[in-house]
Amino acid sequence: MPRPRSAHSLCRSHLAFGLVSAAALASSAVASPLHVLEKRYTDVGGYANPTAGGGKWLTLARNTWPEGLGEPINIVISANSHPALMTDEGFYDWGMSINFGTYLLDASGVGSYHGECFGQTDGARQAANLGDGNGMHNQSDLLRENFGDVTYGVCKESANGGFHYRVWRQNGTDADTGAWFLAASEEEDLSNNHMIVDNGYDLGRDEVVRRAVAPGGTKSPITNTTYTATAVNASGVGYFDNITFWDINHRISTDGVVMVLTVDVTDPGTLAAAARSTGDNAAPGTGASAADLARAASVGLFAVFALALLL
Ligand SMILES: *[C@@H]1O[C@H](CO)[C@@H](O)[C@H](O)[C@H]1NC(C)=O
Ligand SMILES: *[C@@H]1O[C@H](CO)[C@@H](O)[C@H](O)[C@H]1NC(C)=O
Ligand SMILES: *[C@@H]1O[C@H](CO)[C@@H](O)[C@H](O)[C@H]1NC(C)=O
Ligand SMILES: *[C@@H]1O[C@H](CO)[C@@H](O)[C@H](O)[C@H]1NC(C)=O
Ligand SMILES: *[C@@H]1O[C@H](CO)[C@@H](O)[C@H](O)[C@H]1NC(C)=O
Repeated sequence: MPRPRSAHSLCRSHLAFGLVSAAALASSAVASPLHVLEKRYTDVGGYANPTAGGGKWLTLARNTWPEGLGEPINIVISANSHPALMTDEGFYDWGMSINFGTYLLDASGVGSYHGECFGQTDGARQAANLGDGNGMHNQSDLLRENFGDVTYGVCKESANGGFHYRVWRQNGTDADTGAWFLAASEEEDLSNNHMIVDNGYDLGRDEVVRRAVAPGGTKSPITNTTYTATAVNASGVGYFDNITFWDINHRISTDGVVMVLTVDVTDPGTLAAAARSTGDNAAPGTGASAADLARAASVGLFAVFALALLL
């Protein structure tokens, strides 16, 4: 169905314009200092570079030694993505399509998206400054791998290790782009104190991107919404050029590449945010029975006790 000319297509044409002007600038600027050229080549659009507003591509982790170490922010969900991705609902639903996060039903059968085991926060939050005027502030959430189990899977990641990403939104008044910034990594299990595996930052990033760009798209098990994504690398000046190994938590290095994903919706499924921007009126269905809910609640309690024992 033809989509009305939306913010989405406007963003697309801005992006095209940006690329054309960047190319024009690059070719007419042969005599400029190298760093100017590099800057043009590396900022790929759909977000504001945090370093331009006093932020950085590194989180602030808690209880590090020495203090102040962080983890690489290594994925951006570009604001040139489908408008549905610019809502919390769409962002989490897309996460479900690549097996991250959890979907829980409340006592009246209304579903909601969360990142971690039963919507709890397991472990210290990290902070980041995206240069948008919001300053250094805690992550919005942490989305764990769910191994294809939308209710309990993230609890397994917490206990057994695996992939996860921390999330911040660039929506401060100085740079209100709406882009999502992710710090992805692969961690060890609880008995290893959730240490990051060797090369775990780059591996975490690459795994999220590998899933996101799967040929044919990715489908949310909650809404049947289908997403496709394209990835572009960004790196160089204004990224990790002045961040060293010694600034990174657990002393694990990174290749310094940020992957910028532009996510589209190819089938709106029952995702309300996708329907709104494509003109449909479909509402998300949950289809939970009271028995499912009781079961979820009792397994939930059990899991909390089990985790408490492990800790
Ligand atoms: C931010 O996260 C830290 C670590 O989890 C926590 O101690 C602190 O209270 C949080 N700050 C806010 C404002 O929520
Ligand atoms: C910024 O985005 C976060 C995450 O979606 C949200 O919780 C917060 O309310 C937003 N802030 C503003 C000012 O819109
Ligand atoms: C998703 O598709 C499956 C298979 O066609 C169907 O059984 C299920 O009800 C659909 N879910 C939603 C929320 O539409
Ligand atoms: C970045 O892009 C180049 C060229 O397309 C590619 O060879 C490289 O593997 C990419 N880097 C990462 C970390 O994916
Ligand atoms: C890194 O570069 C940014 C600008 O890109 C600058 O504001 C910051 O002070 C630099 N940090 C270090 C440690 O040199």
